[in-house]
Amino acid sequence: MNVKMRFIIFSIACTFLQVSHQSPISHWNLLPHIVVVDVDGTLGHLPLRCLESPEEFTRGDDGIGDIVWMKNGVKDAQTGNLYLVQLEESLGGGNYSCHSKDGSLLNHTVVLIQEIESQKKILVNSDQDYLRCSAQNFSGEFACSWTWHRSRVGNVAFIKALRVSNDSEAQCSVDASGQHWTCSSGQSNISCSVDSSGHGILCADQQHCPYAEERARIHVTVYLRSKHFLVENYSQHFYLSEIVKPGKVRISKVNTTMIKWSYPSSWSSPFSYFPLSFQIAQLRGRCKKCSNPCTDSKATKTVMVNSPDICQFEVKHKTKAVCIRAKDAFCNSQWSEWSHYSLKEDEKNGRQNKK
Ligand SMILES: *[C@@H]1O[C@H](CO)[C@@H](O)[C@H](O)[C@H]1NC(C)=O
Ligand SMILES: *[C@@H]1O[C@H](CO)[C@@H](O)[C@H](O)[C@H]1NC(C)=O
Ligand SMILES: *[C@@H]1O[C@H](CO)[C@@H](O)[C@H](O)[C@H]1NC(C)=O
Ligand SMILES: *[C@@H]1O[C@H](CO)[C@@H](O)[C@H](O)[C@H]1NC(C)=O
Ligand SMILES: *[C@@H]1O[C@H](CO)[C@@H](O)[C@H](O)[C@H]1NC(C)=O
Ligand SMILES: *[C@@H]1O[C@H](CO)[C@@H](O)[C@H](O)[C@H]1NC(C)=O
Ligand SMILES: *[C@@H]1O[C@H](CO)[C@@H](O)[C@H](O)[C@H]1NC(C)=O
Repeated sequence: MNVKMRFIIFSIACTFLQVSHQSPISHWNLLPHIVVVDVDGTLGHLPLRCLESPEEFTRGDDGIGDIVWMKNGVKDAQTGNLYLVQLEESLGGGNYSCHSKDGSLLNHTVVLIQEIESQKKILVNSDQDYLRCSAQNFSGEFACSWTWHRSRVGNVAFIKALRVSNDSEAQCSVDASGQHWTCSSGQSNISCSVDSSGHGILCADQQHCPYAEERARIHVTVYLRSKHFLVENYSQHFYLSEIVKPGKVRISKVNTTMIKWSYPSSWSSPFSYFPLSFQIAQLRGRCKKCSNPCTDSKATKTVMVNSPDICQFEVKHKTKAVCIRAKDAFCNSQWSEWSHYSLKEDEKNGRQNKK
């Protein structure tokens, strides 16, 4: 190969690299009027079109140059049907609207930036995960919550929730309020609403049968956007039986030596079909400084009750308080929060009443 030949190959390679570097950046529609741009930090342009068929608008005397653009309500220098959004690192997101010369709105596009190959930054990873999901029973209802990064509190841009891993067949939509989402696929029909606090969602699988075994996991993906038009997706997948966490057990007294408890009111019935196991801790000491006596003080004796229909227990002599919690008897899911019951105060009250 002579030098000239090598030079030609080199030039071709360079041209190719240059072209691929300038190739259109990847973008897709999240919802009508909302475009997500996947950026990797390199410079780029995203072309926006004001009108699909500008001829209709420009049929009169007015030229096409009379379309004016605004970014977040601020007038921009670019005019015409085509607008080039400048993308640089995570900058370029915004609400781009186009207007006729007299200022009336013609169309708008919200551009959201998704940084690929970058650390998540909109949420804080508290506890074990960004997205924490739990259910109080097997009705098909569940809740997921998250913790916003202090300086990036934003809102929900999209919710996808279904019982298949292949989501190409799912249909997801949002109502006019932007707060109620539904996704249906062959195996599920899940509706979700953003709770009023803005840091969680409440969902229900309308197609779920509490008595049947779940055949596929629920996949939840929440797209969250910051005020600065950054968007990130957060996912979680689970069977309801994995995330179920019973509500608190209710404890009462039978007589001086016996206590009884009942299933949480939010638990699935019949209880014989959805049995719980219980853990009972007896506390002898008092713990005035403890904010939660069940977790902060040492139990003298802890007993497991695995038979779901026995809900009575004879406490040991000198026991001052009992703590009871519950979990699903069949699945290795979460314990409920502890319920605390003080026998001492009860005794005191009893004596006072006798006086
Ligand atoms: C307005 O812009 C959207 C893209 O954001 C485009 O799909 C739609 O066709 C435009 N509307 C008109 C009337 O051209
Ligand atoms: C974007 O701007 C248009 C026009 O001002 C407005 O109708 C629309 O609600 C805005 N959307 C968002 C998400 O800010
Ligand atoms: C996912 O579902 C679509 C539509 O039903 C189908 O065309 C595609 O092959 C499926 N993909 C996989 C990986 O199963
Ligand atoms: C999903 O559930 C909602 C609410 O119950 C219902 O209105 C809708 O028709 C259901 N869609 C499908 C595809 O089953
Ligand atoms: C979800 O976010 C990751 C980055 O955290 C990104 O690589 C991926 O493409 C996103 N998925 C979708 C479907 O947008
Ligand atoms: C307390 O109640 C249980 C069950 O009803 C009974 O077996 C026990 O004898 C009672 N104990 C006292 C001290 O009354
Ligand atoms: C079942 O649990 C959900 C939360 O996961 C709760 O909203 C609902 O009220 C519970 N059902 C009953 C019957 O208590």
